[in-house]
Amino acid sequence: MADATAMEKLVSLCKRRGFIFPGSEIYDGLKGTWDYGPLGVELLRNVKNAWWQDNVTTREDIVGLDSAILMHRKVWQASGHESNFTDPLVDCKTCKERFRQDQIPESQCPKKPSKHPGEFHECQLTEARKFNLMFKTFVGPLEDSATQVYLRPETAQGIFVNFKNVVDSSRMKVPFGIAQIGKSFRNEITPKQFIFRSREFEQMEIEFFCKPETSQEWYKTWRDGRFKWYQDLGLKSDNLRLREHGKEELAFYSIGTSDVEYKFPWGWGELEGIAHRGDYDLKQHMQFSGKDLSFFDDETKERFVPHVIEPSAGATRSVLAFLCEAYAEEMVEGESRTVLRFHPRLAPVKAAIFPLVKKEGMPERSMALYKDLQKNFNVFYDEKGAVGRRYRRQDEAGTPFCITIDGQTATDQTVTVRERDSMKQERIAVDKVKNYLFEKLGA
Ligand code: GAP
Repeated sequence: MADATAMEKLVSLCKRRGFIFPGSEIYDGLKGTWDYGPLGVELLRNVKNAWWQDNVTTREDIVGLDSAILMHRKVWQASGHESNFTDPLVDCKTCKERFRQDQIPESQCPKKPSKHPGEFHECQLTEARKFNLMFKTFVGPLEDSATQVYLRPETAQGIFVNFKNVVDSSRMKVPFGIAQIGKSFRNEITPKQFIFRSREFEQMEIEFFCKPETSQEWYKTWRDGRFKWYQDLGLKSDNLRLREHGKEELAFYSIGTSDVEYKFPWGWGELEGIAHRGDYDLKQHMQFSGKDLSFFDDETKERFVPHVIEPSAGATRSVLAFLCEAYAEEMVEGESRTVLRFHPRLAPVKAAIFPLVKKEGMPERSMALYKDLQKNFNVFYDEKGAVGRRYRRQDEAGTPFCITIDGQTATDQTVTVRERDSMKQERIAVDKVKNYLFEKLGA
């Protein structure tokens, strides 16, 4: 996907085909919130499932967690979010708009879009002030500082505060990791670029606990492994890069951080950060909670506070990258077709089943195949309109295979399978379709 116009087309396709809708749209929307429609919810779930499958289910050294979104306020005091999780906010007294100071060079003045905020003679920008990005709410009926809590701005702290619970209950031994997928909330000053920067989004995070002396090695392993994960799911190397942070970018406790970045239509943007956080987080929580979060190694009889490698990915932001990568327009026999070339693991619908016409028993045979495949795959049945149009609709949804039942099916028990990207068709026996899909989809 090359340019900003293409981005507009993608946003429009997402709305039209039920991937992503603006949040609260019938009330004119709520900025920075998005709703995932029938196809979008499958795509997002497939991204999360692929991540969970590859990082938790198929590994012996990682376990899962699902911690509460509301946490004790002290968690955010210990993590540093209450005092430091801020962006520099600038107001314009003329147009009443708000800007992130560091994003002014790429923002437009609402009164004079050819200029940046502050450059038009009517602009009256205030000094920057620190704006905390955490959403506040209250537990119980009283609204005062004693009952104030935050919607979590990251899932990571839920992992740190459960470190001891997991060690005591699962007998995991360092090196091991805890993984979590869940919603996070940030009151972004300027939510933008579709779902890229939202106020409510989903993260996929791992805290990998290891011995201090092995931490550099684990950092490199995670950094390279996470980069490869995106490549394996179809993000091309030209559009993907790993960027090591310079010393000046690192938090004071961080030993190293690398970002996996994707080339979106507007430029490079972060998909995931892999951070070597040393023992900062566990030590902070030890200090604030007064609880011992060190680890005792039975074999070496050593007690130590583990170091942590944190691969922290955005699930919803990855969805956007996979959508951008998949989107293509091409001319086929004089007609343009829009196709989403998703990796088969991510495709929302794996196969569509069509009767060629609505007679001669074709709908019944199609429905029988559909019902059978439904037990293993997310499949779709469609009998409306010309078959060519049905193919195009599935191309736009990113469905890898379309299976058509026609007149020949009744005589030789075969069906036509049409592949999305090559548009090639082949005939296979109807009783081989399920195995064919298992093989082709890698399911
Ligand atoms: N625990 C570390 C942490 O949260 P982060 O770089 O602030 O690090 C991790 O966030 C990932 O979460 C980002 O790489 C991005 O993919 C996603 N993310 C962060 N803010 C987001 C937002 N406002 N909207 C969508 N995704 C966001």
